[in-house]
Amino acid sequence: MNSSNRKHLVVLLLLLVCTGRTDAFFRTFKDWFDKLTLSTPITPSNEECNEDWNSFDGKGLKADLKRRLFGQHIAAEVIMEAVNALMNNDNPKKPMVLSLHGISGTGKNLACELIVKNIYKEGMDSRFVHFFNAAIHFPHISQVETYKSQLQHWIRGNVTNCARSMFIFDEMDKMHAGVIDGINPFLDYQNKLDGVSYSNAIYIFLSNNGSTFITQTTLDSLKAGKEREKIKLKDMETTLSLSCPLFIYRGVSNVVDFFIPFLPLERRHIVQCIMVEMKAMGRKPEHEMACELADEIVNYFPTDEKFFSVTGCKRIASRLRFYIKQVVGSDVV
Ligand SMILES: *[C@@H]1O[C@H](CO)[C@@H](O)[C@H](O)[C@H]1NC(C)=O
Ligand SMILES: *[C@@H]1O[C@H](CO)[C@@H](O)[C@H](O)[C@H]1NC(C)=O
Repeated sequence: MNSSNRKHLVVLLLLLVCTGRTDAFFRTFKDWFDKLTLSTPITPSNEECNEDWNSFDGKGLKADLKRRLFGQHIAAEVIMEAVNALMNNDNPKKPMVLSLHGISGTGKNLACELIVKNIYKEGMDSRFVHFFNAAIHFPHISQVETYKSQLQHWIRGNVTNCARSMFIFDEMDKMHAGVIDGINPFLDYQNKLDGVSYSNAIYIFLSNNGSTFITQTTLDSLKAGKEREKIKLKDMETTLSLSCPLFIYRGVSNVVDFFIPFLPLERRHIVQCIMVEMKAMGRKPEHEMACELADEIVNYFPTDEKFFSVTGCKRIASRLRFYIKQVVGSDVV
């Protein structure tokens, strides 16, 4: 903006203030601004579907899982193995299908983000990564047929454009059976259909189905004085697969490569999450303070033992900001 423009703007603003029209002006301005920022991407990406843009960084994923995903030894190991196997196979027989289970805040979304980040240069912004939330995108049972055909259209279209496409479905516990039928045909294609191979795609389902069982198993193990890391995938997988009746009836269970448990987080994991947040806020991560905060800003269950965080590592950032402002009295940002 040059200086004469700036002068005009000042005069305009003064006029608006004097005539009491600021509200209307700012509302219009805000509408215009929202339209501008919401409908057009800020920098149009020239992302393409090739090795330059999507190539798997196995070392990166391993390091990220270790550094960011706390308390999930089973998930970290299985994800690493599954993604590695798919990405190093030039001719996979079927797409990779993972089903992640656990209560909120245990790292299911984070795990997806880390997988995405280490395959697609553009991360979650990649045009080849598609995120759906059952409760938001497919809420109405009356619209199931529409959702189903739309979804089939999208999967077909996107995989035709880029074989290495990824589809993440959050809140599968709220998904209607008919919509699952829309996805199902793409999950076990062994052969090409209309010249399109569907077997390089990745599908990830997230839900809290089976989480009561996961919590109980983790609790029992803890009470028995067993090390958390001794809990194995095979202790949980069968029950997890049975926790998804829709998958069983619709034949999806057979094509899920892994049902992966996300265990409820303990206080020591919350401390780790707080330390990461402190660092992200530009503060020095202090262990002692993090331990205090872990008691202060997070609630624990069961009522008696208080072993596990109710909300996991979710909302730690906002709680931390609030707490530090209140108690320490210093501004964080
Ligand atoms: C790809 O999927 C998105 C939804 O994530 C959809 O809006 C778009 O139309 C699909 N593209 C094609 C070519 O079908
Ligand atoms: C998950 O559990 C809910 C509640 O028990 C059930 O309605 C839903 O169908 C289950 N999800 C799947 C994918 O089976």
